Amino acid sequence: MAIHPDIEKVLVTEDQLRERNAQLGAAISADYADKDLLVIGVLKGAAWFLSDLTRNLSCDFTVDYMAVSSYGAAHKSSGVVRIMKDLEVPLEGRHVLIAEDILDTGLTLKYLVRNFLGRGAASVEIAACVLKEGAQEEAIDLRYVGFVLANEFVVGYGLDYAQRYRGLPYIGRLRSSVYQNA
Ligand code: PRP
Repeated sequence: MAIHPDIEKVLVTEDQLRERNAQLGAAISADYADKDLLVIGVLKGAAWFLSDLTRNLSCDFTVDYMAVSSYGAAHKSSGVVRIMKDLEVPLEGRHVLIAEDILDTGLTLKYLVRNFLGRGAASVEIAACVLKEGAQEEAIDLRYVGFVLANEFVVGYGLDYAQRYRGLPYIGRLRSSVYQNA
């Protein structure tokens, strides 16, 4: 498939994503072999990663989704996240694995970990497909990381710019002309 014209460079290929998801899936399957695992996807971006990751799990698990909104920079820096769609299942005693497409400032995940522990989860760990290097405002404990990328504008594999590009099967750097001309 041809590379999208708005992509300056492919940073993670489809093959690399497939291989890494298999590795992460094997590690998670071993770690949760005897635990009651609930994988929680944070919509919308995590849907692609969660879908591929869970196809590599050999342990038992269930899935639920949450949608949150951080309302742009001001709210991100405050760390306040608004819940747009809540979970359907109770968390008491569950071992939660949050699947996220990207850890940027880390504020969304920090909020969610606190929130899930507050609901009685037995444990809360994170699997992030992409960690943006140096972007975190505070240290955050990431158990499973797909790829560490530079702090640049990346899209694809769930990651969007203005809701576009999520369906690209790879992760790529967006041409600056796309967002500068917007
Ligand atoms: C993105 C991403 C994470 C969050 C990470 O979500 O999916 O949830 O930002 O940013 P942070 O580490 O700075 O908190 P976004 O709000 O863009 O929603 P989306 O998943 O629908 O794209």
